[in-house]
Amino acid sequence: MSPPAGRDSPGGGAAGSGPAAVSRVAGSLPRLTGRTRVFGIIGHPVSHSISPIIQNAAFRVLGLDAVYVPFPIAPERLAEALLGLAAAGVQGLNVTLPHKQTVIPLCAALTAEARAIGAVNTLRATPEGWLATNTDGTGFIVSLAEELGWAPGGKHALMLGAGGAARAVGWHLLKGGLTRLTIANRSRERAESLARQLRGDPGGTVDVAPLDALAGLAPGLLVNTTSVGMHDGRSPVELARVGVREALIDIVYAPPVTPLLEQAAALGLPHTNGMGMLLYQGAAAFRFFTGEEPPVAAMRAALEAELAARAK
Ligand code: ATR
Repeated sequence: MSPPAGRDSPGGGAAGSGPAAVSRVAGSLPRLTGRTRVFGIIGHPVSHSISPIIQNAAFRVLGLDAVYVPFPIAPERLAEALLGLAAAGVQGLNVTLPHKQTVIPLCAALTAEARAIGAVNTLRATPEGWLATNTDGTGFIVSLAEELGWAPGGKHALMLGAGGAARAVGWHLLKGGLTRLTIANRSRERAESLARQLRGDPGGTVDVAPLDALAGLAPGLLVNTTSVGMHDGRSPVELARVGVREALIDIVYAPPVTPLLEQAAALGLPHTNGMGMLLYQGAAAFRFFTGEEPPVAAMRAALEAELAARAK
């Protein structure tokens, strides 16, 4: 096992504290033993995943005899791989594309949240088989609270997008007591379908609006769950016309500042990108499959260092 790519340990000295010390610990080679607990991520491809960086940093900082490994699993070998990983004693897994839905029938049980969202990103080994959950929405809600001090109770939110991420985000906002959710999406049909699902579970007031008719809506929160701004230098809406009152979150994290976030900054609207959601979904996954409290500061330092290195 080699250290995370591009993260040479400077070596020497005690671990100390602060970001430099955290990155020394995160970059050091783990000592693997006969008792080392193995965790990992399954995806196809999986080489781009940041999860090994975050999770291994957490293991190192806590001094756990554990390691987190990327497993590239082709879709047609998913069932075989899950049986094999369980048989080999792997204790927990994250799940990324394209397996987030196809893995469901291969699991022994799902949390209520994973069942409602219809997609999973975290598995824990149990004697009965894999127990699956979804920590994406938890990551989103914790990020809103931690980065923006915003909670959904009694509020109105406008959500752009109606894909897989939107389903997790919308479910958690409503579960958290949001009184009104407006969904705006390029494909109206997909927005209507998501609205119907969310009205059923967890329930609440959910309406649909066209992307080009949001002027004066004045929601408390705007959430972008679309991929607009990730590769195209565009903003999904003209923010000043929407009149967002309290906060904005764009779940894109690369680039760190999208055109939508630039507009929020220009308007003086409190805002954040998707890095916090990425961090806190990882922290919740760590808690789910290790049973330990995640060392969030160390995980954040490792994530920030990795994103900065990738941006170069
Ligand atoms: P994820 O699981 O990350 O949410 P997804 O299910 O593919 O990914 O959803 C992507 C979202 O981004 C959808 O809401 C999609 O709109 P459509 O449902 O109309 O496809 C939205 N999206 C992607 N590219 C877009 C674009 N160029 N303009 C507007 N919306 C876009």
